[in-house]
Amino acid sequence: MSILILVCGHLGSTLKAGKLLARQLPGEAAIVDTEQNPEVDFAAFDCVVFGTNVRMLCLNRRFKRYAARWKRAKTGKPAFCYVVAASDGNFQRYEAAARRALGPSCAAVVYAGGELDSSHAKGFAKKVIEDVKQQTLAEGRALPQIREAALTALARQIHETVC
Ligand SMILES: Cc1cc2nc3c(=O)[nH]c(=O)nc-3n(C[C@H](O)[C@H](O)[C@H](O)COP(=O)(O)O)c2cc1C
Repeated sequence: MSILILVCGHLGSTLKAGKLLARQLPGEAAIVDTEQNPEVDFAAFDCVVFGTNVRMLCLNRRFKRYAARWKRAKTGKPAFCYVVAASDGNFQRYEAAARRALGPSCAAVVYAGGELDSSHAKGFAKKVIEDVKQQTLAEGRALPQIREAALTALARQIHETVC
């Protein structure tokens, strides 16, 4: 089974979640970061897993571009998606947006948690992350984390659908 994990994030959490997912899949999944807008041959894989982060309540723009390419490619194969966001408050909305973007071939979408890690951030992004982190801690709430259990559930669904 050949699986492509297509990572559409900014500061490393979406890539980290992709790597955690890859470890739970049979065989070796190819992980491609879309930061450099690489060409992707969707037809070369049995399925594609899209990873997208969320900023300002919206899914990553690169995710939307690659999802449109995926729909145009009409491979007849299934797509999966995990969404990385610091807050789970709007998960159903993100899930619906991801399903819409990927079209009828979308077999499953999961919310995979998120992080407030400003170590690779600069400028506005750094300020947003640090402000939200400070507020979360001030309210006595736990900081968000990547949810490995959600990725395990997704890996199981991929296995059941594709194998
Ligand atoms: C500018 C900015 C806006 C963000 N907006 C949201 C948001 O609307 N909802 C949310 O849940 N998380 C938001 N986040 C948090 C990110 O989703 C979270 O940090 C995620 O782990 C980032 O993934 P990445 O490291 O792959 O970029 C935002 C982060 C930044 C920097």
